[in-house]
Amino acid sequence: MIKQELKKLKDEIIECRKCSLYKTRTLPVIGQGDHQAKILFCGEAPGASEDKTGHPFCGAAGKILDELLDSIKIKREDVYICNILKCRPPGNRNPQTAEIEACTPYLERQIEIIKPKAICALGNYSTGFIMEKYGLGDKIQGISKIHGQSFKTKKGPVIIPFYHPAVVVYNRTMIKVLEQDFKILKEFTK
Ligand code: URA
Repeated sequence: MIKQELKKLKDEIIECRKCSLYKTRTLPVIGQGDHQAKILFCGEAPGASEDKTGHPFCGAAGKILDELLDSIKIKREDVYICNILKCRPPGNRNPQTAEIEACTPYLERQIEIIKPKAICALGNYSTGFIMEKYGLGDKIQGISKIHGQSFKTKKGPVIIPFYHPAVVVYNRTMIKVLEQDFKILKEFTK
Protein backbone atom coordinates (compact mmCIF):
# COMPACT_ATOMS: atom_id res chain seq x y z
CA MET A 1 0.00 0.00 0.00
CA ILE A 2 1.30 3.44 -0.94
CA LYS A 3 0.69 6.07 1.68
CA GLN A 4 -0.26 9.34 0.01
CA GLU A 5 1.50 11.34 2.75
CA LEU A 6 4.78 9.67 1.75
CA LYS A 7 4.15 10.51 -1.89
CA LYS A 8 3.59 14.17 -0.92
CA LEU A 9 6.76 14.13 1.19
CA LYS A 10 8.70 12.75 -1.77
CA ASP A 11 7.51 15.62 -3.99
CA GLU A 12 8.62 18.13 -1.33
CA ILE A 13 12.07 16.58 -0.95
CA ILE A 14 12.62 16.63 -4.72
CA GLU A 15 12.05 20.41 -4.63
CA CYS A 16 13.99 20.98 -1.36
CA ARG A 17 16.44 23.90 -1.23
CA LYS A 18 16.80 24.09 2.58
CA CYS A 19 20.55 23.49 2.49
CA SER A 20 23.13 23.66 -0.27
CA LEU A 21 23.43 19.90 -0.88
CA TYR A 22 20.78 20.03 -3.62
CA LYS A 23 23.34 21.89 -5.75
CA THR A 24 25.86 19.05 -5.82
CA ARG A 25 23.72 15.92 -5.59
CA THR A 26 22.41 14.02 -8.60
CA LEU A 27 19.21 12.52 -7.13
CA PRO A 28 17.78 12.84 -3.64
CA VAL A 29 17.56 9.50 -1.83
CA ILE A 30 14.25 9.60 -0.05
CA GLY A 31 13.58 6.12 1.26
CA GLN A 32 12.48 2.70 0.08
CA GLY A 33 10.39 -0.17 1.34
CA ASP A 34 7.09 -1.00 2.98
CA HIS A 35 5.09 2.09 3.95
CA GLN A 36 3.68 0.10 6.87
CA ALA A 37 6.98 -1.48 7.90
CA LYS A 38 7.44 -2.63 11.48
CA ILE A 39 11.18 -2.01 11.21
CA LEU A 40 12.73 1.22 9.91
CA PHE A 41 16.46 1.47 9.20
CA CYS A 42 18.05 4.89 9.25
CA GLY A 43 21.56 5.33 7.83
CA GLU A 44 23.66 8.45 7.54
CA ALA A 45 23.58 9.89 4.02
CA PRO A 46 23.61 8.68 0.42
CA GLY A 47 26.94 7.64 -1.08
CA ALA A 48 27.96 7.70 -4.75
CA SER A 49 25.83 4.71 -5.89
CA GLU A 50 22.76 5.95 -4.02
CA ASP A 51 23.20 9.45 -5.46
CA LYS A 52 23.17 8.00 -8.99
CA THR A 53 20.16 5.71 -8.54
CA GLY A 54 18.05 7.50 -5.91
CA HIS A 55 17.86 4.25 -3.90
CA PRO A 56 19.18 3.90 -0.34
CA PHE A 57 21.89 1.37 0.48
CA CYS A 58 22.42 0.10 -3.08
CA GLY A 59 26.26 0.19 -3.00
CA ALA A 60 28.85 -1.72 -0.98
CA ALA A 61 27.28 -0.97 2.42
CA GLY A 62 23.90 -1.96 0.96
CA LYS A 63 25.23 -5.40 0.00
CA ILE A 64 26.21 -5.90 3.64
CA LEU A 65 22.79 -4.73 4.82
CA ASP A 66 21.22 -7.28 2.42
CA GLU A 67 23.43 -10.05 3.85
CA LEU A 68 22.39 -9.09 7.37
CA LEU A 69 18.70 -9.09 6.47
CA ASP A 70 19.16 -12.49 4.80
CA SER A 71 20.80 -13.81 7.96
CA ILE A 72 17.56 -13.20 9.90
CA LYS A 73 15.27 -14.09 6.97
CA ILE A 74 13.76 -10.65 6.68
CA LYS A 75 13.06 -9.36 3.17
CA ARG A 76 14.29 -5.91 2.19
CA GLU A 77 10.86 -5.04 0.80
CA ASP A 78 9.27 -5.69 4.21
CA VAL A 79 11.31 -3.03 6.02
CA TYR A 80 11.73 0.69 5.32
CA ILE A 81 15.21 2.08 4.65
CA CYS A 82 16.14 5.76 4.69
CA ASN A 83 18.82 8.16 5.91
CA ILE A 84 19.39 11.18 8.13
CA LEU A 85 20.33 13.25 5.05
CA LYS A 86 18.43 12.83 1.80
CA CYS A 87 21.18 14.34 -0.38
CA ARG A 88 24.79 13.17 -0.75
CA PRO A 89 27.43 15.35 0.91
CA PRO A 90 30.18 16.02 -1.65
CA GLY A 91 33.02 13.51 -1.44
CA ASN A 92 31.06 11.58 1.22
CA ARG A 93 32.12 14.05 3.91
CA ASN A 94 30.38 13.90 7.28
CA PRO A 95 26.96 15.55 7.59
CA GLN A 96 27.13 19.10 8.99
CA THR A 97 24.95 20.24 11.89
CA ALA A 98 23.03 22.74 9.73
CA GLU A 99 22.33 20.03 7.14
CA ILE A 100 21.04 17.65 9.82
CA GLU A 101 18.79 20.41 11.21
CA ALA A 102 17.44 21.25 7.77
CA CYS A 103 16.83 17.66 6.66
CA THR A 104 15.66 15.71 9.70
CA PRO A 105 12.09 17.11 9.73
CA TYR A 106 11.65 14.88 6.64
CA LEU A 107 12.86 11.83 8.58
CA GLU A 108 10.56 12.76 11.45
CA ARG A 109 7.59 12.82 9.08
CA GLN A 110 8.61 9.46 7.60
CA ILE A 111 8.64 7.97 11.10
CA GLU A 112 5.28 9.58 11.94
CA ILE A 113 3.64 8.23 8.79
CA ILE A 114 5.14 4.71 8.86
CA LYS A 115 4.90 4.25 12.66
CA PRO A 116 7.50 1.48 12.92
CA LYS A 117 7.78 -0.67 16.04
CA ALA A 118 11.56 -0.50 15.90
CA ILE A 119 13.98 2.10 14.55
CA CYS A 120 17.42 0.74 13.72
CA ALA A 121 19.92 3.57 13.88
CA LEU A 122 22.92 2.71 11.72
CA GLY A 123 26.11 4.37 12.94
CA ASN A 124 26.90 7.29 15.22
CA TYR A 125 25.11 10.15 13.41
CA SER A 126 21.85 8.31 13.14
CA THR A 127 22.06 7.02 16.71
CA GLY A 128 22.81 10.50 18.09
CA PHE A 129 19.91 12.17 16.30
CA ILE A 130 17.32 9.48 16.97
CA MET A 131 18.18 8.99 20.63
CA GLU A 132 18.03 12.77 21.23
CA LYS A 133 14.68 12.96 19.46
CA TYR A 134 13.19 10.35 21.78
CA GLY A 135 14.58 11.88 24.98
CA LEU A 136 17.38 9.34 25.33
CA GLY A 137 20.17 11.92 25.16
CA ASP A 138 21.59 10.89 28.54
CA LYS A 139 22.02 7.29 27.28
CA ILE A 140 24.03 8.18 24.17
CA GLN A 141 27.49 6.64 24.04
CA GLY A 142 29.79 5.69 21.18
CA ILE A 143 28.38 2.98 18.94
CA SER A 144 31.02 0.49 20.15
CA LYS A 145 29.38 0.72 23.61
CA ILE A 146 25.67 0.67 22.78
CA HIS A 147 25.37 -1.36 19.57
CA GLY A 148 22.70 -4.06 19.75
CA GLN A 149 20.99 -2.65 22.85
CA SER A 150 17.32 -1.77 22.67
CA PHE A 151 16.00 1.42 24.22
CA LYS A 152 12.30 1.72 25.00
CA THR A 153 10.58 5.04 24.44
CA LYS A 154 7.37 6.19 26.16
CA LYS A 155 4.80 5.75 23.39
CA GLY A 156 7.06 5.51 20.42
CA PRO A 157 9.17 2.81 18.81
CA VAL A 158 12.03 0.87 20.34
CA ILE A 159 15.37 2.38 19.32
CA ILE A 160 18.21 -0.01 18.50
CA PRO A 161 21.64 1.35 17.55
CA PHE A 162 23.82 -0.76 15.27
CA TYR A 163 27.26 -0.38 13.79
CA HIS A 164 26.96 1.11 10.32
CA PRO A 165 27.16 -1.79 7.79
CA ALA A 166 30.03 0.04 6.03
CA VAL A 167 32.34 -1.06 8.88
CA VAL A 168 32.17 -4.56 7.38
CA VAL A 169 33.43 -3.25 4.04
CA TYR A 170 36.64 -2.22 5.81
CA ASN A 171 36.77 -5.03 8.37
CA ARG A 172 35.04 -8.22 7.27
CA THR A 173 35.24 -9.80 10.73
CA MET A 174 32.69 -7.23 11.98
CA ILE A 175 29.94 -9.12 10.13
CA LYS A 176 29.78 -11.50 13.11
CA VAL A 177 29.06 -8.65 15.53
CA LEU A 178 26.36 -7.24 13.28
CA GLU A 179 24.80 -10.66 12.64
CA GLN A 180 24.58 -11.26 16.36
CA ASP A 181 23.02 -7.82 16.94
CA PHE A 182 20.53 -8.24 14.08
CA LYS A 183 18.99 -11.31 15.76
CA ILE A 184 17.10 -8.96 18.08
CA LEU A 185 15.02 -7.79 15.10
CA LYS A 186 13.24 -11.12 14.65
CA GLU A 187 10.84 -10.27 17.46
CA PHE A 188 9.61 -7.14 15.65
CA THR A 189 8.38 -9.02 12.60
CA LYS A 190 5.61 -10.79 14.50
N1 URA B 1 25.49 4.74 3.68
C1 URA B 1 24.43 5.30 4.28
O1 URA B 1 24.48 5.70 5.43
N2 URA B 1 23.30 5.37 3.57
C2 URA B 1 23.17 4.93 2.33
O2 URA B 1 22.08 5.03 1.75
C3 URA B 1 24.31 4.35 1.73
C4 URA B 1 25.46 4.26 2.42
